[in-house]
Amino acid sequence: MDFKQLISHSKEYGFIFQSSEIYDGLSAVYDYGPMGVELKNNIKKYWWDSMVRLNQNIVGIDTAIFMHPSTWKASGHVDAFNDPLIDNKDSKKRYRADQLVEGYVEKIDIKIMKDVAKARKKFGDDFDEAQFRATNQRIIDRQTKMDDIMGRMGALLTAEDMEGMKALIEELEIACPESGSRNWTDVRQFNLMFSTQLGNISGSESKLYLRPETAQGIFVNFLNVQKSTRQKIPFGVAQIGKAFRNEIVARQFIFRMREFEQMEMQFFVRPGEEMKFYEEWKAKRLAWHMSLGTDASKLRFHDHDKLAHYANAAADIEFQFPFGFRELEGIHSRTDFDLTQHQNLSGKKLQYFDPEINESYVPYVVETSIGCDRMFLAMMANALQEETVPDADGKDSTRIVLKLPAAIAPVKVAILPLLKNKEPLTNLASDVYRKLQSHFNCQYDEKDAIGKRYRRQDAIGTPYCVTVDFDSLEDGTVTLRDRDTLQQKRVHIDALVAEVADSVSMATLLEKL
Ligand code: GAP
Repeated sequence: MDFKQLISHSKEYGFIFQSSEIYDGLSAVYDYGPMGVELKNNIKKYWWDSMVRLNQNIVGIDTAIFMHPSTWKASGHVDAFNDPLIDNKDSKKRYRADQLVEGYVEKIDIKIMKDVAKARKKFGDDFDEAQFRATNQRIIDRQTKMDDIMGRMGALLTAEDMEGMKALIEELEIACPESGSRNWTDVRQFNLMFSTQLGNISGSESKLYLRPETAQGIFVNFLNVQKSTRQKIPFGVAQIGKAFRNEIVARQFIFRMREFEQMEMQFFVRPGEEMKFYEEWKAKRLAWHMSLGTDASKLRFHDHDKLAHYANAAADIEFQFPFGFRELEGIHSRTDFDLTQHQNLSGKKLQYFDPEINESYVPYVVETSIGCDRMFLAMMANALQEETVPDADGKDSTRIVLKLPAAIAPVKVAILPLLKNKEPLTNLASDVYRKLQSHFNCQYDEKDAIGKRYRRQDAIGTPYCVTVDFDSLEDGTVTLRDRDTLQQKRVHIDALVAEVADSVSMATLLEKL
């Protein structure tokens, strides 16, 4: 299904609404509807449990959105949390200069992928993609060009050379997607933090920022957490919470928002051991994504050409969104940058005494950071499908189905009396609903024909439908329908909880890790 269909499906079935829609919306801000909040909570729970419950040496925290303004001076966000901005003078459209260059490079990559797909078709099972990429001259030339451009851009951004960025855009003859013109303004830096003020005093001392990442709440609490939990290095601190960025360009639904939620984990390690843990966390995070059934071909690592001011190594896990491969999660080796900066600015020691080597030091940090909303979008994009299935009369019909992992689906079981307003059928169905509702999130639905109700549940991803019919009144059994296989079987009402529990339980996912 294409991106437009995904967006309208999200609205129609109560997953995502534009914020303040009745006032024509607020750009790049979204609300989660009744289905969306359930799905989002399940994503957060799966992340939390896989971090905090499955690792004895990872603990949780929930820090405030507002932090002392010195936090952001120390972290470098006041001075360096900028994006390069450029305007097209004809269309008056604003762009991120780095994204214009990335878009140019992506077009070359698409050409490479087309060549690879053609060769795969030609050579069939014998096709060796790595060998083809390494020996086909056209691909080698294109890849070299891509690497060269990205390398040059990385250097320009690191040096904050905005003139160089404009020159690169001109050299590549990049035109405005809207007007087709190459009439660009200069490139300038734009700070992404939102600011407000504390109380009613204005002035620089009372200037507060809405946090642009949750990580700093973890750093400034490093010793509080370590001392109160008596964790020994290596150990991690995990947090889920809101973050805010005044994004220059935010046109891709919930992919890039101005208010969003992050799930971050800072792993504190002994200096010199960070690369080992960096590689370990890259592998663990990829395994987490795969455990949700995402096809390996839709995920890939992308090593950063331009390192953030705090990192000595960084990679993204990219997912193939409907608009191409994009960052879903970042894994960063942040060195001792943040803790040292906070130590220097606050004048408070942020050191750990390591009893194994009898030494005190500022720990190094490996971070995993994923946007909850971006994960939500990835899951929707992965799960939403249109397929042909036999209807009640055995004829082909199409259905829209959200094939989410059962443990993540918003509603686990729908209870459907065969007919509405038909007692004692509806009474029994209500009894079944009450029996199940303390175990799983359930829906009771008696409106419309049963086929239509099945389709509604398919569209929100409900893994099981229970139909209560006249036989149920006689023998206490109901029909249990499986969303994916469409198979139906009779199950006794007393056995329903046990029948469904395992497959909708988060434990089945966690066990895969
Ligand atoms: N603490 C490190 C950090 O914040 P980041 O790469 O800037 O690193 C981490 O952000 C993740 O947060 C991204 O991989 C993405 O999933 C999510 N994210 C960042 N900006 C976002 C935005 N404007 N809207 C939605 N998600 C965003």
